[in-house]
Amino acid sequence: MKSIASAPGKIILFGEHFVVHGTKAILAAIDKRVTVTTTFTDNKTIKVNSELGTLEVPIQVDPQWQEVKSEFRPFVFLANRLMTNSDKVWDPGNFHFFNRCSGLEITIDSDIPIGVGLGSSSACCVAATASIFGLFKELSSEEILKISIEAEKTIFPDTSGADCTVCTYGGMIEYPSIEKIDNTFDLNLLIANSMIPHNTKNSVEKVNKFKENDEERFSQLCDLETKLIDEVITAMKNNDATTFGLKMSENQKYLEEIQISNDTLRDMISSLKEISLGTKITGAGDGGCIIALVKDENVNKVPALLGKDKECFSAKIDTKGVVWSKIEE
Ligand code: PMV
Repeated sequence: MKSIASAPGKIILFGEHFVVHGTKAILAAIDKRVTVTTTFTDNKTIKVNSELGTLEVPIQVDPQWQEVKSEFRPFVFLANRLMTNSDKVWDPGNFHFFNRCSGLEITIDSDIPIGVGLGSSSACCVAATASIFGLFKELSSEEILKISIEAEKTIFPDTSGADCTVCTYGGMIEYPSIEKIDNTFDLNLLIANSMIPHNTKNSVEKVNKFKENDEERFSQLCDLETKLIDEVITAMKNNDATTFGLKMSENQKYLEEIQISNDTLRDMISSLKEISLGTKITGAGDGGCIIALVKDENVNKVPALLGKDKECFSAKIDTKGVVWSKIEE
């Protein structure tokens, strides 16, 4: 039997970093996915296969996932959680889990670039939760979200939970309300990858330091971000792409102020200035990706403006969120 689940990557349109400190954010799932396939094995191990390598650890009731390399931690955490049955997905009265399942093999296939703010690790946590638990039970979206956030915390304890939320539900959402936002005008969003990997935990710690050094300004920035997001929602209701773009660039100023930008990202943003309605970092910054709202007639000009060493592609919004299926063999 195979339990297969896939989940989309994401972009943060507005509110990254500030969302960790309680403000709203707007996120969208994108048409790039990670697929996680889980099967039972006879090996008494948890085996994880991904493009980052293979990990095989003995199956035990309390595996030390903290000692595992960070990219593999959520999988070991989830396998452990399944085995200890704290979510009651299998019935200990009728059926002894350990007799049936002497091991698990978890395989990850992804077309989401890793470590550049497009939600690769959140999509992995969401798809892995649905896939691993799906060996026994189809989880509801609420259950997937709750468990996947805990899995993500094994890598990044301070996560706002916004990324896993949009990877679970898909579409464009306001966070934390999880209200879906209708895409009234046809957003032509371009994602450009600086090809500089980033570390979300380090960037979030840097912002925490900024906050500690200047509580008053940080609180003003949080208020400005909240106001900006309300204006974006109104702009979307009014089909107003120009204001949406302007708000992206305004949001970028706040991200510059909290110092998660760098020269490469600034150069990329300025090279797209003439042809975009708005451009900003998406995600933790310090590398990773920028997004640009570009008019149709200008899309072809983007690769030449960015230069050959950068990757860029159009983002279509995914509306499906997490998808699960089981194949009996
Ligand atoms: O890891 P990234 O680049 O997708 O960014 C996460 C977004 C932050 O707001 C910086 C952190 C969070 O948990 O929301």
